[in-house]
Amino acid sequence: MSAYVALKHLHMTAAYLTVTLLLGRLMLDAMGIAGWRQTPMRWVPHLNDTVLLAAAIGLLGVGGWNPLEQSWLAVKLALLCGYICAGVFALKPSRGWRARFVAAVAALVQVILIICLATTKPGLF
Ligand code: HEM
Repeated sequence: MSAYVALKHLHMTAAYLTVTLLLGRLMLDAMGIAGWRQTPMRWVPHLNDTVLLAAAIGLLGVGGWNPLEQSWLAVKLALLCGYICAGVFALKPSRGWRARFVAAVAALVQVILIICLATTKPGLF
């Protein structure tokens, strides 16, 4: 298996895990199980997201992708910032439920758009 294919598999696995782990934490909070913050669920998603981004940087290096040339990649990066901000907000216990719900929906919509962009790679501008 080439380094590129290995990095792509790693990136995709971490990508689907980030969605699963976000959904899992949102569901635990919705069920009133805030104690997950004292378990490995607190740091495992950060570890996974680090792997996701490291593999992404690897793909850029090995594959020669350039966000300044591929518009889908530039939009993906912008959505990534939105996904991180919305995800962090959605998991803040100090915020109200309504605002957290809106943030959770925003995070999920953005990560779905990220995956759609990655699979279709459209020329956007
Ligand atoms: C939450 C963040 C991200 C998610 C969920 C995600 C998801 C994905 C998925 C599912 C694929 C595979 C698409 C396919 O089926 O071919 C992919 C490919 C790719 N991703 Fe990401 N990604 C994320 C962040 C990033 C970042 C930050 C970069 C770099 C700036 C990046 C660069 C790439 C590249 C270059 C590919 C193309 C690989 C190929 O088709 O050969 N990704 N991404």
